[in-house]
Amino acid sequence: MLTSKRILVTGGNGFLGRCVVPTLIEAGGEVFAPRRRAFDLIDRAGVDALFERCRPDVVIHLAADVGGIGYNQQNPGRLFYNNAMMGLNVVEACRTYAVEKVVLVGTVCAYPKFTPVPFREESLWDGYPEETNAPYGLAKRMLLVQAQAYRQQYRLNAIYLLPVNLYGPGDNFDEDSSHVIPALIRKLVEAKRAGRAAVEVWGSGRASREFLYVEDAAEGIVLATERYDKGEPINLGTGNEITIADLAATLKRLVGYEGELVFDPSRPDGQSRRCLDISAAEREFGFVATTDLETGLRRTVDWYLQSALAERASPAVPCGGKA
Ligand SMILES: NC(=O)c1ccc[n+]([C@@H]2O[C@H](COP(=O)([O-])OP(=O)(O)OC[C@H]3O[C@@H](n4cnc5c(N)ncnc54)[C@H](OP(=O)(O)O)[C@@H]3O)[C@@H](O)[C@H]2O)c1
Repeated sequence: MLTSKRILVTGGNGFLGRCVVPTLIEAGGEVFAPRRRAFDLIDRAGVDALFERCRPDVVIHLAADVGGIGYNQQNPGRLFYNNAMMGLNVVEACRTYAVEKVVLVGTVCAYPKFTPVPFREESLWDGYPEETNAPYGLAKRMLLVQAQAYRQQYRLNAIYLLPVNLYGPGDNFDEDSSHVIPALIRKLVEAKRAGRAAVEVWGSGRASREFLYVEDAAEGIVLATERYDKGEPINLGTGNEITIADLAATLKRLVGYEGELVFDPSRPDGQSRRCLDISAAEREFGFVATTDLETGLRRTVDWYLQSALAERASPAVPCGGKA
C-alpha cells in the first residue's frame, strides 16, 4: 500500500519519528520529514506551505509538544494550545489537499483518570483525564473528534492510534522535560558516577505504567497505516504494567548503581494505574509488540551510556537496534 506513496511524517525527526521514517522507507514510501524550524505546524500558513511543497498521499502526524509530569505541570496552557493547533492545522490541510490517508497519534494520557484497567478504547470518553496531564490529553482527544467528524462529513480516511508510554534509544534525556524512564536512567548514571548514596524517585513508587519499546511502536504505526481504515481509535501497547518502584529497581540493577532509591511522595504519582487492552490492534491490523521490557531497558541504558553522554549535542541518532 505504501510503495511509491509520498508520505509526510510530521515530527519525523523526533524520538518516535526517527523510528517510523526508516520503517516507511523500507516499506517503499517516499518520505518527507521536515523540521519545525522549516515549517511550524502551529502556523496555518506554514502548514499550507508544507503541503504545497510535499503534496503528500499519506500523512502521519507525530509532531507534538510532549514531556513528563513536571513539564506538563509547568506548561498546561502551552501543551493544550500547541497540540490542539498542530492537529487542527494538519488535519484541515489533509482535507484541503485531498490526502488519501491520515494517521493521527494520540496518547494514553487522553484516557479518563478513573477508568477500568485494562483501558479499553470504548472508555475514552467516560471521564476527565488525570489532572497533571489533562490539557495535553484533551488536546489530543480533540484530534480524534476532528478525525471522526472529517471522516463523516468529508470522507477523509483518518485513523487514530493511542500509544502507551514509549521508551528506547534516542529518547529525550533532558532534565526538565524527560519521561520517567530516561529521567531515572540519567539520575542513576549520574549518581553512580558521582558516588552518591541515594537517588530520589518522584512519587510513592506504587503507581503502575505500561511501556512500549519505540521500535515496536513504529512497527504498529506502519502496520496501521497499511491495514487499518476505520474511525474507531486503537490502543498500541504491550498489555503489561509495572510499578514505578519495580521499574526503578530494574533500572538500578541495569545501571549497576549500588546506592538507595528514595521515593518522594510529595511529588505527584500521576494516574494510579495505566495498562491498555491491546486486543483491537492485533485483531484489526495484526500488531503485537515483540520487545520485552528488560531487553528494551537494557538497550536504552546502553544507548545512553554509549551515545548520549558522548554526543549530547547531536540529536541525530539512529533507531533502536532491535536484534
Ligand atoms: N514519547 C512518548 O512516551 C509518547 C507516548 C504516547 C504518545 N506519544 C506521541 O507520539 C508522538 C511523538 O512523540 P515523541 O516522543 O517522538 O516526541 P518528540 O521526540 O518530542 O518529537 C516531537 C516532534 O514534533 C516536532 N514539533 C514540535 N512542535 C512542532 C511545531 N510547532 N511544528 C512542527 N513540528 C513540531 C518536533 O520537531 P523538531 O525536531 O524539528 O523540533 C519533534 O520532531 C507525539 O504525537 C506524542 O504525543 C508519545
